[in-house]
Amino acid sequence: MAMLLKLPFENCNNDLSRSNLKSSPKKIQRRSGRTASGSPRAAEFFAGIGMVRRALEDAGCCVVFANDIDPVKHKLYAANFEAEHFVLKDIRLLKGSEIPDVEIATASFPCTDLSLAGKRRGLKGKQSSTYWEFTRVLEEMGRRRPAAILIENVPSFATSHSGEDIYQAIAELNRIGYWCDLLVVDARYFLPQSRPRLFIVASTEPLEAPGDWTPSILRPEWIKGFVAEHPELKMNAHPLEIPFSGSRTLAEVVEKPAPDAPTWWSESRVARFVESLSPLQAKRLQALKYCPTLAWATAYRRTRGGQAVWEIRPDALSGCLRTARGGSSKQAIVEAGNNTVRIRWMTGREYARLQGAPDYDFAGASENQVMFGFGDAVCVPAVSWVIRNYVRPLAEGKLTEVHDETLSYA
Ligand SMILES: C[S@@+](CC[C@H](N)C(=O)[O-])C[C@H]1O[C@@H](n2cnc3c(N)ncnc32)[C@H](O)[C@@H]1O
Repeated sequence: MAMLLKLPFENCNNDLSRSNLKSSPKKIQRRSGRTASGSPRAAEFFAGIGMVRRALEDAGCCVVFANDIDPVKHKLYAANFEAEHFVLKDIRLLKGSEIPDVEIATASFPCTDLSLAGKRRGLKGKQSSTYWEFTRVLEEMGRRRPAAILIENVPSFATSHSGEDIYQAIAELNRIGYWCDLLVVDARYFLPQSRPRLFIVASTEPLEAPGDWTPSILRPEWIKGFVAEHPELKMNAHPLEIPFSGSRTLAEVVEKPAPDAPTWWSESRVARFVESLSPLQAKRLQALKYCPTLAWATAYRRTRGGQAVWEIRPDALSGCLRTARGGSSKQAIVEAGNNTVRIRWMTGREYARLQGAPDYDFAGASENQVMFGFGDAVCVPAVSWVIRNYVRPLAEGKLTEVHDETLSYA
């Protein structure tokens, strides 16, 4: 049975009711369907701990619906955001009629079956197949389906089943009435974390210009090849400036515990770390150690021939934050200089800072729960950049043309 949602209109200053929007002509609905404050409304699927919500709000959108299945993440979300609109249940049980009128929908669906670290079952896998539930819900919304969509996942989505999965994902969006664009945006343009992510931006109306697929940082070579190989797909590209916005440094993000704080590893543990380093890695550590001032680097553990070995990143970035299943994906912070070396695990607060939510309330969750939530989340400024520069203007009809084909969808 469809659930009656109480919308947080007072928060969004939203004066548009569902019923009056439903009866509006489609074009008018699209261009005027937003809150009185001018904010487009958004539904976030796979909401997790709310980092897409932060990005949406930073870009001036108002979230009126959220869905996720994880009760721990829901608790964290509710501690940080108004969560009356959060529907805690399996997306498989969600109906299009439960979604309020929105101009934007986002889906950072599970990457478990697409990631290089997993078994690569792709969009048929138990977790990543939830993508098809998202498109089902959109289809069930019929003429109410949102004007603009943002889908986020790992870059290896593009190579899953030799490109068949991304092809099918886009073909399905086309079938339900969306034109699609592809982008790769790395969190490193905004914060000191290497986190490239693939985005599908989709709209019910085509862009005014079909776009230019010339390879760039945002649209690597393979996207041009993919588009050329599949002329039957409805694809278009919006020109975007490359976002070099003056990323913050690792030194600005790391916590600075006192040299005698218990979080630092013991001498014997540091010795084991040093022993595991290859000659190249050892040189890297020496260079840091003999710096005249303190410097920071991140380190991650790999298994080589059954042995745990440590590698120190050379670029003063954090590696991509991951969910800490089994602990092997946890990163360490190396603080060195003035002839000293200290090492400790990266903290949950550092995870939050590296994802762009420095002040996030952990609401009593355990360090592992926090790291799990943030490892699975998105980098706020990267996603908010895509929304501000692309998804929001798309939803507001500022980038699209009026096209007969868009009106034929029932
Ligand atoms: C990659 S994470 C997205 C995290 C989110 N963007 C954030 O900022 O925290 C994928 C999310 O999908 C949720 N999920 C997995 N299976 C689901 C299902 N069947 N129904 C609804 N949500 C599901 C997970 O709990 C997880 O939070």
